[in-house]
Amino acid sequence: MSAIVDMDKLVSLCKRRGFIFQSSEIYGGLSACWDYGPLGVELKRNIKEAWWRSMVQERDDIVGLDSSILMHPKTWVASGHVDGFADPMVDCKVCRQRWRADDIKDGKCPDCGGEVTEPRMFNLMFKTFFGPVEDEAATVYLRPETAQGIFVNFANVMGTARKKLPFGIAQIGKAFRNEITTGNFIFRTREFEMMEIEFFVKPGTDEEWFKHWLDERFNWYIKLGIRRENLRLYQHTDDKLAHYARACYDIEYLFPMGWGELEGIAHRGDFDLAQHAQFSGKDLNYFDPDSGERFIPYVIEPSAGVDRSALAFLVDAYDEEPDKDEVRVLLRLHPDLAPVKVAILPLSRNETLLPMARDVYAEVRKCFVTQYDDAQSIGRRYRRQDEIGTPYCVTIDFQSLDDNQVTIRERDSMKQIRVPMAELTTALEKKLGGEPFEVLPAGGKYWLGFEGEERENSRMLDGKDN
Ligand code: GAP
Repeated sequence: MSAIVDMDKLVSLCKRRGFIFQSSEIYGGLSACWDYGPLGVELKRNIKEAWWRSMVQERDDIVGLDSSILMHPKTWVASGHVDGFADPMVDCKVCRQRWRADDIKDGKCPDCGGEVTEPRMFNLMFKTFFGPVEDEAATVYLRPETAQGIFVNFANVMGTARKKLPFGIAQIGKAFRNEITTGNFIFRTREFEMMEIEFFVKPGTDEEWFKHWLDERFNWYIKLGIRRENLRLYQHTDDKLAHYARACYDIEYLFPMGWGELEGIAHRGDFDLAQHAQFSGKDLNYFDPDSGERFIPYVIEPSAGVDRSALAFLVDAYDEEPDKDEVRVLLRLHPDLAPVKVAILPLSRNETLLPMARDVYAEVRKCFVTQYDDAQSIGRRYRRQDEIGTPYCVTIDFQSLDDNQVTIRERDSMKQIRVPMAELTTALEKKLGGEPFEVLPAGGKYWLGFEGEERENSRMLDGKDN
């Protein structure tokens, strides 16, 4: 499905509706940096919350951490990033454009066809200065991954959280890479957010845990609505492994430009803890109380990008349907990810409807992120909510004033049910939690028809008639 989604259409929707804007746009933009608008920030928060809930709060064997972006410069020597975190790059001798060496065919610049230089290694870490003196001794790096903040805190967390192996430390935070080739919207950027787990295990149990994390992480995307056929696992060959990895799989997604990495799951062995023990002189062994052994644990690392996940969720959710003479554009986002969960729509701006509509809005917004919209026709307002992925719209009409009932309309099917006001928030909570739309609350009814059909031609049934 996603193969038919046109990236330009998605980028335009994201800008038009306030999901994602080009960074510093009024100055002509800063390439490979993006700003998340009112809806984008909600989407991103929902992705991070879903990850934190299922990876930290619903598990007994993972705890959280929030380490600083700036770290002691020795960290990056020990981790291998100062020497090894580099891509081969070439320069065009004619137009001076810089390229990743893998993007070059026949030694020619892809832009102007000019001859390019021999490849040179280019370190991807951003440098800055710590304190008032701008010299070599004051050089620090913006972290290129959150993982090292976890490794250097291994002993702190193990001592204070009183955890036994196997256990993991999870962290969400910004990372920075001075990528040579960027592009494809938020797929590869120079500033991005990561959701990383370093899962520490006893050597010998590592293969089993590697398999566990491959399954666990693959299924996380499916549970949040990504279609199975748009995901696959790709195993890195030995010559493509990162300097720290013994084995690595990518979870790949079928983006509009083709298959691309969504998340990496690496077997890091004891590389990082052993390196930090050596460079810091601190003992980072684990004492196993059951066997009396001391050893450096092995690490399995599921490492996901928040921005890339956001792109995959948006691409997978984007849909277009014929709608009379027009096209209905909708985001079929999982309710947990949708930026707005409910929209309150009075049928018209007629004054008699407004007090009730305002009351419903005040009640519902206590429980869910809710929008109130009374501008333009009801049809247009439904379409506006479809386009931003709002799962449910609640309509207040003139009959509501008599029977104290309101209509809930579902985004994906456009079906409608009628529920008593007293049942509204409970009904919405159940539907957002996955209850089938046709299940009616006490006293509820549904229209035998869909949005767009004349109410007179629809039969209203209560649960007993079916
Ligand atoms: N600690 C392991 C690590 O950093 P990685 O495969 O380099 O592994 C993990 O990065 C994830 O971070 C990727 O799968 C991707 O989702 C995201 N990511 C990496 N570089 C990115 C970039 N330049 N822009 C956006 N996301 C990026």
